[in-house]
Amino acid sequence: MSLAEISVKHQALKPPYYLSVYESYLAPLTASTTALLELGVNRGGSLELWAEYFPRATVVGIDIKDIVEIDQDWKPIYKNGRPVLKTFSSSRIVSKMGSQADEAFLTGLSSDYAPRGWDIIIDDCSHVGSLSLQSFLTLFPLLKIGGLYIVEDWGVGYKPDFAEGEAFDTKLHLTEQDGKFPSHASGLAGFIKQLVDEVGMDDINALSKTGRPAVVDWMHVYKGAVIIKKRRNVPSLRFPA
Ligand SMILES: C[S@@+](CC[C@H](N)C(=O)[O-])C[C@H]1O[C@@H](n2cnc3c(N)ncnc32)[C@H](O)[C@@H]1O
Repeated sequence: MSLAEISVKHQALKPPYYLSVYESYLAPLTASTTALLELGVNRGGSLELWAEYFPRATVVGIDIKDIVEIDQDWKPIYKNGRPVLKTFSSSRIVSKMGSQADEAFLTGLSSDYAPRGWDIIIDDCSHVGSLSLQSFLTLFPLLKIGGLYIVEDWGVGYKPDFAEGEAFDTKLHLTEQDGKFPSHASGLAGFIKQLVDEVGMDDINALSKTGRPAVVDWMHVYKGAVIIKKRRNVPSLRFPA
C-alpha cells in the first residue's frame, strides 16, 4: 500500500501532498529503517502509519499531552471519568509525554530507543520556530549519518495569528538593498531559512574559519515540508567558543 493509503487507514493527520512527496524519499528506506522518531503525535495515527510502512522500525512519538483513544467522531473515550490512554496495534510503537524543547527528555529517549542513532526524525509538533530550533539542536546530532530530518508546516511562519508567525511584508519580496537581500524571518519560516546557512557551511567555514564543516548534505524545500539529509557528525552544532 502507498503511504497515502496507509495514512487514511490509520487517520493520520498528514496532507496527501506531503505523503506523495515523502514516498520517493522513504520508499527506498522501508527495509533498512530501524528507528524513527516523530515529534507531535496527536491521536497517534501517524505512529501507526510509520509502523506499518517500516516493518523493522521502533517507532517513537512524543507529545506534550496524553495520547488518548478516540471515537468515530474524534472525541476522547472516557472510562470511570478519565480519558482512556491509547493502546497501539504494534509493540514496536512507543509514545511518551514530554516537550520538544526538553533536551534531557529527548536525549534520554534517544539513548533508550535509538542508541545507534535515528534513521528518520519528523518534527510535526508545535510548529513554533524557537521550539523547532531547540529540537533540531538536540536531535540532529543524534540522527544517523545519511538519515533524514523532516520539518512539517513551515508555512505557519507567515500567519500573524500563529505563535511567532507574522504577515508577509511585500516590501521584502524579491528585493535588494545595497547588495543585501532582506527577507521574512519570522517563526518556523525564519528557522527554515537559517538552515540554508547549514547547507552553505563548508563555504562559510573555508572563508571564515568557523571550525565547523557542513553537517547537512542537502535540504529539499517543498510547500509545507522540508527534508534534510545528514552528512556528518560534529560534537555540537554550535560553533566552538
Ligand atoms: C499536528 S499534531 C501531530 C499530528 C500527527 N503527527 C499526525 O500526523 O497524525 C501536533 C501535536 O503536537 C503537540 N505539541 C504541541 N506543542 C508541543 C510541544 N512543545 N512539545 C510536544 N508536543 C507538542 C500537540 O499536542 C499535537 O498533538
